[in-house]
Parts: sequence; C-alpha cells; structure tokens
Amino acid sequence: MIRFSENHSLKAHNTFGIDAKAKYYFEFTELEDLEVFLKSNQSWKNEKLIVLGEGSNILFLNDFDGLVIHPNVPGMNSVWEDRNHEWIEVGAGEVWDEFVEYAVNRGLGGAENLSLIPGKTGAAPVQNIGAYGQEVCRLVEKVKGFDLEKGCVAEFTAAECEFAYRNSIFKHYLKNRFIITSVIFRLDKFPEFNLGYGQLEKQVKEKGEISLSTIREAVIEIRSSKLPDVKNLGNAGSFFKNPVVPKELAEQLQVKYPELPVYAAENNQVKLAAGWLIEQAGWKGKRLGDAGVHAQQALVLVNYGKATGNEIYALSEDIFDAVNTQFGVKLEREVNCI
Ligand code: EPU
Repeated sequence: MIRFSENHSLKAHNTFGIDAKAKYYFEFTELEDLEVFLKSNQSWKNEKLIVLGEGSNILFLNDFDGLVIHPNVPGMNSVWEDRNHEWIEVGAGEVWDEFVEYAVNRGLGGAENLSLIPGKTGAAPVQNIGAYGQEVCRLVEKVKGFDLEKGCVAEFTAAECEFAYRNSIFKHYLKNRFIITSVIFRLDKFPEFNLGYGQLEKQVKEKGEISLSTIREAVIEIRSSKLPDVKNLGNAGSFFKNPVVPKELAEQLQVKYPELPVYAAENNQVKLAAGWLIEQAGWKGKRLGDAGVHAQQALVLVNYGKATGNEIYALSEDIFDAVNTQFGVKLEREVNCI
C-alpha cells in the first residue's frame, strides 16, 4: 500500500498536534514500493527529506518544504530462537507498545520496562528509547532498512548503531539518509527483572507477584500518572534530555541544593534530573498562551490546543535560560525541532 499527496497536513502525524504542512508526503508498507517511488522521479534527490514515524519526538516550527516519508511496514515475526532467547523481527510501522504487549504475552523479557512509550517501532532505535532502567539498545540485534544515498537495502548490527543515551548513528551520520523498515530484537526466555529504578519495585510488589505482566502494569500506571496522554494533551514526552555534567559541578550544586537528584554516568560525570531543575527554576505548571509545562512532570512541554511550534519552542528557550542562570547547566533538547 502506498499513499502520496501534496501539501499534506501533518497535524495527525505529530503528537504535539501542530498543524504544519508538508510539500510532499509519501507512505509505504512494502520496501519495494519505496524503491519504485524513489526511482520514479530523480528530483526526489534534491528535496529536503524527513522520515516520520508517529511523530512523537518532533516539533514542527514551520511548514516542511520537502518530502516526508512515513514507513508503515507491518509485521511481528519470530525469526530465530535458541535455549535462552527468541529473536522477533518487527516492522517499522508497528506501534511500539503493541510489540511490548506481544512480547510480554509470549513470556519474553526485555521490553516490559519500556511499556507505553509512544511511537512506532522504527523510531525506537533512532533515539535509543529508554525508561525505568532499560534502554532499547540492549534488545536490538539488527536494524534493517534502505540507504537513500547508496540506493540499496542495508542492515546494521547493534554495535554499528553506535547507541548512547538517547542517541544513535541514525541521529547523526545516517540522519534522513537511512529509512528503517524493520528491527530484530533479541528477547529473553528466562528474564531477569529490572526493578531498580525509583518507585518501580514498590509498585510491582503491591501487585503480589513479580512477573513480566505485573512489571508492565506497574510501568503503565507510573507513566500514566505522570505523563500526559497525547490523545488529550499534545506533547512529545521529555522535551529535554537529562543533562550529563562533570561530577565537580554536581557536588558544588549539592552544597546549595542537597536534595538535587544525581545519577551515575560514565567518565567521571553524573546525570541530573532536568525535570527537577525546571521545577526548581519555577516553571512547572506554567502556561504561556497555549504552550505550557506539564503540571505533573516539568520535563514535558504541552500544547493546550492552538499553540504553534514556535510558541512551544520559545517556551523551551525561556526554560533553557532560567535553568542556565540558576544552576549553570545547559539543557539539551531531546525533541527534534524542524
Ligand atoms: N522531578 C522533579 N520534578 C519534575 C519531574 C521530575 O523534581 O517535574 C524529579 C523526580 O522527583 C525524580 C527525578 O526528577 O527525582 C527524575 O524524574 P523521573 O523519574 O520522573 O524521570 P525523568 O528523569 O523525568 C526519564 C526519562 C523518561 C522516562 C523516565 C523513567 C529522559 C529525558 N527522560 O525522565 O523518558 O520515562 O526517566 O525512566 O531521560 C522520554 O524520553 O520521553 C521519557 C518520558
């Protein structure tokens, strides 16, 4: 199945609900259709391009004067197994949380802590989605897709994906050059549960037994209590990354702010909680027109209805300045601003 249109509204294709338009929009379910489409017109090479999944990590500041490609490849298939693992290939167009549910229902572990993260599966490796002590890079075996520059299919092993905190090769070297069509995940038949993060263990234990299903339920409960549902309130999850700073800076800050949440990171650095910094800077729950900071989680910016991309962006600049002034910490956006 393919869909092609011009001057296409992206309102339904981004979870902020911004009413931007794309000059061209192309959606496909079969890799062959993408190849035919690209060969059909040499001028596609000259267009600006973005690859859009569910649009759950993007903020459109303007109309997009180029080609939006939406890979909607379906399928969840077991491709291989051994005594301890099963490998599942998932189409880029499958809703991420439906894959998590499928894995949990089959008794396969690894994805349960990543329950209810919005977005399509093809987007999961791009920013190496993570939550509650787990990151998707630990499950990725291979990422498959189409290399626009070479004009051929290609695949990357997990090591080649250069995964890091909310980062991968698909955000840099291969940005808008590689179209992910499916991902192969390696799941555990005998999972070790990962309950170390925050209130997760307590929430799971209240359910009586510790299992993939109770972990999934608990994660869904915690997320739903803090993070706004995009169906009711436009947002893109965490707007900023949690900043990684030198240990010395964190220690200085802790003198003045003993309750500053600090998490271990690599290379003598530590990770701070951006949500905490934003709340302390007085921005939690604030609203400027229809752009706002979520009242339950300061890391999430929301669209109360008619905010433009630029209004949300301007709010993020104010927050950046306030946090930088008060703590000397420069926040980095997690959301892709186009
Ligand atoms: N905090 C505040 N005020 C706030 C928000 C948080 O003081 O408004 C404090 C919390 O009390 C806690 C700390 O900050 O001490 C961390 O908060 P939380 O556990 O809610 O997690 P987070 O750092 O805000 C990260 C991810 C989320 C992920 C959660 C759970 C990033 C940028 N965000 O948020 O990911 O769901 O941990 O693992 O790493 C996303 O990427 O879109 C996302 C939602």
